[in-house]
Amino acid sequence: MIALNDISKTFNPGKANEVNALGSVNLQIAEGEYVIIVGANGSGKSTLLNVISGSILPSEGTVIIDSNDVTKLPEHQRSKWIARIFQNPLLGTAADLSIIDNFRLAALRTQTKSLTIGKTTEFKNKVRDRIATLNMGLENKLEQPIGTLSGGQRQALTLLMSVMDNCKILLLDEPTAALDPRSAANILRIADDIIKQFKLTAVMVTHNLKDAVNYGSRMIQMDEGNILKDITGTEKSTLKQTDVFEWFG
Ligand SMILES: Nc1ncnc2c1ncn2[C@@H]1O[C@H](COP(=O)(O)OP(=O)(O)OP(=O)(O)O)[C@@H](O)[C@H]1O
Ligand SMILES: [Mg+2]
Repeated sequence: MIALNDISKTFNPGKANEVNALGSVNLQIAEGEYVIIVGANGSGKSTLLNVISGSILPSEGTVIIDSNDVTKLPEHQRSKWIARIFQNPLLGTAADLSIIDNFRLAALRTQTKSLTIGKTTEFKNKVRDRIATLNMGLENKLEQPIGTLSGGQRQALTLLMSVMDNCKILLLDEPTAALDPRSAANILRIADDIIKQFKLTAVMVTHNLKDAVNYGSRMIQMDEGNILKDITGTEKSTLKQTDVFEWFG
């Protein structure tokens, strides 16, 4: 469960370039929910995800994850719960390292026990099996630097890495914005499968209204740092792209 209680965020307070990115946001996301966030540019969507992940600390309010108050916890100390996928496929992975070494790094991120983690044949086989489920032929390229792969292939691997280490929350910020239509559709399908299979709590920001209506169990519209609409259940599942378009006025 994620709870944001009276969260506000002001960048550069008291300065000429002060921005109120989040007003006073109250949001509770239940375990297993898949929330889609839409909203105009600058409406605070990424700031909201950043507040959940801890890459930005709120000006006011509290952030609760699984009944832990993580408001002041830095990002790296939340990473055992949270995986992130960004718009830029280059952000989730280390380009010069091989596929298998990227998976080792991801495992180390949350399992601080020892540097030997991921060195075993068992680990390699587990990674190979997981990658094979993508049907991209990448299971035969484990030693290839990840930087030599396409953006879509990297996004798919980043998604897999996020669940190799038992993360419970997946935050996706425009994960397909840099991908061609076919790769984009593929990534969203993979994400949806992973979210369901591993019972993740997920939040995805998208500007693609078709994806926004097709995916997720709940949809939120942000407007000038506040939640304007919050739709769930059959209202969400019967929502049409044209309805959402109307929201934007
Ligand atoms: N680090 C920062 N420093 C100063 N201002 C920021 C910072 N990050 C975001 N902002 C400002 O906060 C507001 C909300 O930004 P945010 O990135 O959350 O919007 P967004 O809804 O994700 O927009 P987009 O759809 O363009 O990605 C904007 O006015 C933005 O300029
Ligand atoms: Mg954004």
